[in-house]
Amino acid sequence: MSRQDLLEIFHSRTPAIAPSMLGCDFGNLHREAELLEAADAPLLHLDVMDGHFVPNLTYGPRVIAGLRRTTQLPLDAHLMINHPEKSIEAYLASGCDGITVHVEAFEDTAVLCETLDAIREGDAASGIAISPTTPVEHLEVAWEHADQVLVMSVEPGFGGQSFLPESLSRLEQLQTRLPDHVSLAVDGGIGLSTITAAYDAGARVFVAGSAIFGHGDYREAIQQLTQAATPSGAVQEA
Ligand code: DX5
Ligand code: ZN
Repeated sequence: MSRQDLLEIFHSRTPAIAPSMLGCDFGNLHREAELLEAADAPLLHLDVMDGHFVPNLTYGPRVIAGLRRTTQLPLDAHLMINHPEKSIEAYLASGCDGITVHVEAFEDTAVLCETLDAIREGDAASGIAISPTTPVEHLEVAWEHADQVLVMSVEPGFGGQSFLPESLSRLEQLQTRLPDHVSLAVDGGIGLSTITAAYDAGARVFVAGSAIFGHGDYREAIQQLTQAATPSGAVQEA
C-alpha cells in the first residue's frame, strides 16, 4: 500500500465508505479488521486522540503498527493531537497509508504546509481536517499540499454524535473551491439519514462509526450506506 493506492480509492471508488475504528471492539482488532475486509470496506479510518487536543484518548503508532500486521486494507489515520508535526515520522513508520492533521493544531500555517509535504514525502496521502467552528477559508493556504480535506460534521472527540446540519453548506463551499486533486471527505454522524445530503453537498468519502459497528452485519451496513450515497442511475465504479 502507498499514497497512490489511497488516492485511487479517494477518487475512483465513489462513494467510499471508511469505517471509523473508534466504534469497533478494541478487544479483538484483528477480527474486526478481517470482518471489515470481508465486508468490502475500502480502507480503515483510525481516530488517534491524545486527551489534550480532544478530551478523549485512544491509541498511537504502536497499536497501528500491530493492526498493520493484521490487514491488507489501507490505513488512514485521523490525528486529533497537539503538535502533530512532531510525530509524523512515527505514524509513517507504523504503516499508515494516509495521515490527516487538524488545521486547528497549527499556529503557523508554514508548519502545516511542511507537515503535509512530509506526509507525502513518506509516501502517504496528506489530509487536513477542519472542526465545525473553524472558517473554511483557513484551509486555503494549505490545500495545494493536501490530498484530502476532512470536514468534521461533529465536534471531534467522540463517536455517536448527531450530524451538524451546517456542515452541508461547508461541504458545498469547499466543493466549489477545492482544486480537483483534493478529495472531499466528511466525518461524524454519517448514517442512512444523513449520507445522501452529504453526497449532494459534495462529499465523496464518508467516515462512519456507529452506522457500521452498531449494525451487526458490516457488509450490509456498508452496502446500504454506499447505495444511499449513490445517485439513482449513476454507474458506480469498482
Ligand atoms: C470523531 C471521529 C469520528 C467518529 C465517527 O472525533 O473523528 O471518526 O468515530 O463516529 P460516528 O460515525 O459514530 O459519528
Ligand atoms: Zn475521524
